[in-house]
Amino acid sequence: MATVFVSGTLPGDAVATLAASHRVVQDEAGVRSAAFASCRADVEAVVALLTDRIDAAFLEGSPRLRIVANVAVGVDNVDLAACKSRGVLVTNTPDVLTDATADLAFGLVLAAARRIAEGDRLVRAGGFTGWTPTFMLGTRVHGATLGIVGMGRIGRAVARRGRGFAMPVVYTQRERLREDLEAELSATFIASLDDLLARADVVSIHCPLTPATTHLFDGPRLARMRPGSILVNTARGPIVDEAALAHALTHGPLAAAGLDVFEAEPAVHPALVTCPNAVLAPHIGSADRPTREAMASLAASNVLAVLAGHPPVLSSVDRP
Ligand code: GLV
Repeated sequence: MATVFVSGTLPGDAVATLAASHRVVQDEAGVRSAAFASCRADVEAVVALLTDRIDAAFLEGSPRLRIVANVAVGVDNVDLAACKSRGVLVTNTPDVLTDATADLAFGLVLAAARRIAEGDRLVRAGGFTGWTPTFMLGTRVHGATLGIVGMGRIGRAVARRGRGFAMPVVYTQRERLREDLEAELSATFIASLDDLLARADVVSIHCPLTPATTHLFDGPRLARMRPGSILVNTARGPIVDEAALAHALTHGPLAAAGLDVFEAEPAVHPALVTCPNAVLAPHIGSADRPTREAMASLAASNVLAVLAGHPPVLSSVDRP
């Protein structure tokens, strides 16, 4: 029986499954909690959240640790090199959250372009005084060109949704997709991000956060986007410079933005909060109940497999 630390509260029966064969210690406050400190010398597995920072200092105090099972597809909260050098396996939860996250991304596209959140605020404030032909005109989604930055699982799922809205799809990432996938998605590869921005009316970000993608969307880059375009980010906040985005929303060229992630969560840049054309969601990309249960269950299955000496059930950490 190994000691397994579970960070936070997980939906579904993942914790019960782990507790059936291991000693489980759980704490809402995550790996910085007193509960973790009291078991860290024994802990062999950690079910971690994206709000837990797993770095060299953390690993130092947990000499028996064998696996960090992140309940997220992104693993930017984990120092992968430090884990590797200590022989600690890191797993994530790919596939199970793809459609939920793509749904939310598309919801943000629609909400931002068609001013849905802004309209909701207006109605609640008593500002709806009657239909007129010029009231709250937004941006057309149907048939607009959709630009995907990072055509992994989630990017491809967003592209499929875009096809349903008759959107020509262009994408950029380091490597071009296989021809059959490109054909299935009717997606056109554009090697340079700046060239993609010159073509896309709606840009949706789906790349991982790495040193190379931090502030990938900075002031100069945002300034190169098409006048009246829409930016959606459901990946990681630091990929977009929030202060620069607020400027681009206020002074152009952007018409609107939909954000599910922020640079310093849970804080949001005050300038963004005052932009009526920014739709702000509280990092709920994967937050439909079956998806979150599936993520927790997959993380638990990965822990059980690794503690039993088997490979993880499913993880894309070394297979982005
Ligand atoms: C959520 O943000 C995730 O990476 O799964």
